[in-house]
Amino acid sequence: MTQDELKALVGQAALAHLPEGAIVGVGTGSTVNHFIDALATVKHRIKGAVSSSVRSTERLQAHGIQVFEADSVERLAVYVDGADEIDARGYMIKGGGAALTREKIVADLADRFVCIADESKLVDVLGRFPLPVEVIGMATAQLVRRFAAIGGRAVIRAGVTTDNGHPILDVFGLQIHEPLVMETEINMWPGVVTCGIFARHKASVCLLGTAAGVKTLEF
Ligand code: A5P
Repeated sequence: MTQDELKALVGQAALAHLPEGAIVGVGTGSTVNHFIDALATVKHRIKGAVSSSVRSTERLQAHGIQVFEADSVERLAVYVDGADEIDARGYMIKGGGAALTREKIVADLADRFVCIADESKLVDVLGRFPLPVEVIGMATAQLVRRFAAIGGRAVIRAGVTTDNGHPILDVFGLQIHEPLVMETEINMWPGVVTCGIFARHKASVCLLGTAAGVKTLEF
């Protein structure tokens, strides 16, 4: 199976994790695009969605799925999103699509985080994928120095501004053995909007697309 077929497989499998009549938290990315397309086939069974990006909102609406503002919802039963990396504890790196801040906001509303990913995303130690960090522009040079001090090489993602109007730093060379500690540390640095470590908002379950089918990892 191709990587895209594995993404489609887990996008479809996520439907089994949606409570009847729910407002569903929806992430961003190529795997989520498959999930949104699958969601369209059962749209009569859900009330609507809260979206984590302009891209996902447009795709949901094109399918006739109602999109609610995150601000108008007190809690979500479930949030479905992909990951750039996930480890055996359910900790993730996210933000390859630059939607990390809104993803974390919507994930924070949800009781359960259903991660959908192809098997290439499962790693022993987070960090091979450069860590995305959304930052306030005027803090960029200082943050590059701060990352250098912990062994990371931070590079501004060229030509990218987030839906919130901020740049993204991609940080190469980190080995994230303690995701909770590192997420907390980076989040305290002035000028960091959101760090792409999802440890406080880790996956509850991962539907992993493999050649042998969907493997379910519970955390
Ligand atoms: C978006 O900002 C990211 O967090 C995505 O969830 C992540 O990059 C996974 O994307 P793919 O499903 O396209 O691999």
